[in-house]
Amino acid sequence: MTKIGILTGGGDCPGLNPVIRAVVRKGINEGYQIIGIKNGWKGLIENDAMPLDLSTVSGILPKGGTILGTSRTNPYKKQEDLMRLQDNYKKIGLDALIAVGGEDTLGVAAKLIKEGITNIVGVPKTIDNDLSCTDYTFGFDTAVNIATECIDRLHTTAESHHRIIVVEVMGRHAGWIAVESGIAGGADIILIPEIPIDIEEVCNLIQKRHRRGKTFSIVVVAEGAHFKEGTAVLQEQKLDEFGHVRLGGIGEQLAKEIEKRTGYETRVSVLGHIQRGGTPSAFDRILGTRFGVKAVELVKDKKFGRMVALVGNKIIDVPIEDAVKALKTVDMELYEIAKVFFG
Ligand code: F6P
Repeated sequence: MTKIGILTGGGDCPGLNPVIRAVVRKGINEGYQIIGIKNGWKGLIENDAMPLDLSTVSGILPKGGTILGTSRTNPYKKQEDLMRLQDNYKKIGLDALIAVGGEDTLGVAAKLIKEGITNIVGVPKTIDNDLSCTDYTFGFDTAVNIATECIDRLHTTAESHHRIIVVEVMGRHAGWIAVESGIAGGADIILIPEIPIDIEEVCNLIQKRHRRGKTFSIVVVAEGAHFKEGTAVLQEQKLDEFGHVRLGGIGEQLAKEIEKRTGYETRVSVLGHIQRGGTPSAFDRILGTRFGVKAVELVKDKKFGRMVALVGNKIIDVPIEDAVKALKTVDMELYEIAKVFFG
């Protein structure tokens, strides 16, 4: 019997469980045996796996997170880990692996395929929506909805107290969450990693609002944004196995600068992991389901090295390698639309 493994790697996001469920349901329909690899690449290094059947995936569609667990383990960090991964892939008896992840997890997948170590099909996931070759990654829509609701809530308190509220959202390299939740939530300024922050301009926009009688403002900033002269603000210097630092703190710095320069009372609200938790939106459940079904079809057709993708409203497949080559940054046409409402 064909044995297909599935793993979820990197930061979790809403929609992972719908993918797992879809892979299991479609896989079983095709007569395959599905093996869940625990905690991303770590599970293959440590031979930590479990069979997945109809009962294991029953009821998981609306659940956030991933029933398989996740990690940011990079098997290319240590040669012995790579050897163990290769051995365990054989030991478990996998014919193919479905890797669900973002730039890091799929970057590893691309290397493993190139080196002929495993047969892999990729599924794009990240709340940041920064993977190339797909219009959307699942998890993003839920994160945007959560951030929008938070902005709505912050609006009423900002207005009552005549304050500026800086809302820091996630978005390491790309400001997709900031732009979309900012547009949906009616932000007065949106700051993203793609465009260095001009603090003078930010304060001018806020003052312009005050001149027309608005005594409050909402400023949405992506965690990866940075001032014109500086680099992104780091919460700690420690790097993860893929060389990423922990971001966070730009909201705090921005709030201080705004208050100092304008004299208006300014507060900051950091949304953080709230954006990654909880039940997936209907859009993410459907996208995850479509991705999962298509991933099994790719395995069936032996189209290894391919990643499922959403282009327009069609699910297609693209080379994993192309998807991880360059990040998909914010569409400047969309940012121009957001800018119409600044100030
Ligand atoms: O990559 C997704 C993401 O949520 C980023 O927006 C953020 O910088 C990072 O993960 C946070 O990672 P961690 O869960 O390790 O704090």
